[in-house]
Amino acid sequence: MNQEEASKEISSLSQKINYYNDLYYQKDTSEISDFEFDKLLERLIELERAFPELKKDDSPSQRVGGTITKNFETVNHRYPMLSLGNTYSKEDLEEFDKRVAKGLGDEPYEYFCELKFDGVALSLTYENGKLVRGVTRGDGTRGDDITNNVRTIRTVPLSLRDGDYPDFFEARGEAFLPKEMFLKLNKEREEQGEELYANARNTASGSLKMQDSSMVARRKLDCYLYSMNGEDIGVATHEEAILKLQSLNFNISPTFKKCKNINEVLAYIAEWETKRLELPLDTDGIVIKVNSIQQQHKLGFTAKSPRWAIAYKYKSEAAVTLLQDITYQVGRTGAITPVAELQPVLLAGTTVKRASLHNANEIERLDIRVGDMVFVEKGGEIIPKVTHVDTSKRKPDSERLKYITHCPECGTELVRYEGEAVHYCTNALGCPPQIKGKIEHFIQRKAMNIDSLGERTIDMLYQKGLVTSPADLYQLTYDQIFELEGFKDLSTKNLLEGIKNSSSVPFESVLFALGIRFVGKTVAEKLAAHFKSIDALAAATYDELIEVPEIG
Ligand code: IVH
Repeated sequence: MNQEEASKEISSLSQKINYYNDLYYQKDTSEISDFEFDKLLERLIELERAFPELKKDDSPSQRVGGTITKNFETVNHRYPMLSLGNTYSKEDLEEFDKRVAKGLGDEPYEYFCELKFDGVALSLTYENGKLVRGVTRGDGTRGDDITNNVRTIRTVPLSLRDGDYPDFFEARGEAFLPKEMFLKLNKEREEQGEELYANARNTASGSLKMQDSSMVARRKLDCYLYSMNGEDIGVATHEEAILKLQSLNFNISPTFKKCKNINEVLAYIAEWETKRLELPLDTDGIVIKVNSIQQQHKLGFTAKSPRWAIAYKYKSEAAVTLLQDITYQVGRTGAITPVAELQPVLLAGTTVKRASLHNANEIERLDIRVGDMVFVEKGGEIIPKVTHVDTSKRKPDSERLKYITHCPECGTELVRYEGEAVHYCTNALGCPPQIKGKIEHFIQRKAMNIDSLGERTIDMLYQKGLVTSPADLYQLTYDQIFELEGFKDLSTKNLLEGIKNSSSVPFESVLFALGIRFVGKTVAEKLAAHFKSIDALAAATYDELIEVPEIG
């Protein structure tokens, strides 16, 4: 094939792929199967590899990623990315409305309401109809250039269809991981015995900072746009800007509404209070904007936020309490989870003493410090979470928290794997909670099913040096068990019997019990069915492994 033929085929493939992508993501329909679609994409990638000079920045092959970014470049925002003032009550909103009315000196005005999407703010720059930059909010003035990762978000147009738009403009919106994808991802992680992700927002934020864009592509992020900035974008109202973005093929949540006055805004708030829970993404409130751009200019900004917009946050039960300490838990896989140790406080009927802080990013985001007064909420989730710090109560000598660098249990230096927010202790064979955690994993019902053994007994066996790996269980004698606190003749016999019976569980359960990273229950079943024995599995080559159905 010569260059001219390749160029023709590349442009025809690109057109087709863009067409099907558009149908799929914007119109929710499909004219070809996923398999046929993947074939088109594969062919495009193959041709672009053979003729790299023909690969365009807006090629749909960009969606599958493949670039590695070692360090994201910091770039200045052309327009600062401010935050919104928060309100929690009808009274606060009425106050806001009064300030708007006063600021506009009795001119008539309208509001435009949107849901407040709980994701990661993104700034997308378009020059001559092409996406040239995707940047995180950062500190509002400077953010990280994550363009290659943004290109993998399928609803973000790489080049704009014909239409009326300025040579330069910036679209802003919220990137998010759809709830469905988040649940699926966590299910896979659970299967593989991996630590679960805390929530969709943190996962989206972590995904966008991954160095390998093909990993980002697999996360299937999405993005709703909520504003358009530029010198001369040719719109008089926010509504027109939203409709313009929609006509240019950006993804706009269909939940917006124009409201004539604050009472209509209150009705919108009431309408979405529970309906929002059915949306494909997490939302935590609504955003109310003065519709006219000229009036927005007239109202202007405070140092931190616009005077023409405000967020209304839906209430979840919250309490304020003292953060007494931060401790660190080490899981079976070596994953470190920081935990907020709180002064006990009553919240939604239960006493809360601890809350997970998930990982170092979350601690940094909250800028949480021991001695702080913190807000704790119980939202949709059962586990309470720390939402923010009351910085006004902070002592002047308070210092930013330094995350631990070494395992609190065994002193090994911690590592952070690519694409993961969590730190790990790698001392799998010498770190006590990892050893005990592995034994607990080994004996569970889905694994070796030794139900006469519990956490407390494992701890005693470990303390006495009798069991330091699952294999040691099979060497235990009657006398060794009988001597343990709380054991009598019958319980000792029961435990020995349980251990003996475990040697007849099926191979797939043994394989799962071993707790190999990425080998969850389902993968273990697939491998066991294919290889039949541990020897055959141990001898398998890479090529033999990837031939197993569903093992990539
Ligand atoms: S408009 C001047 N609209 O909320 C700020 N923001 O605290 C204008 N957000 O960082 C922002 N949904 O990431 C706007 N419909 C929406 C939004 C929204 C979520 C986020 C945004 C921003 C934060 C503001």
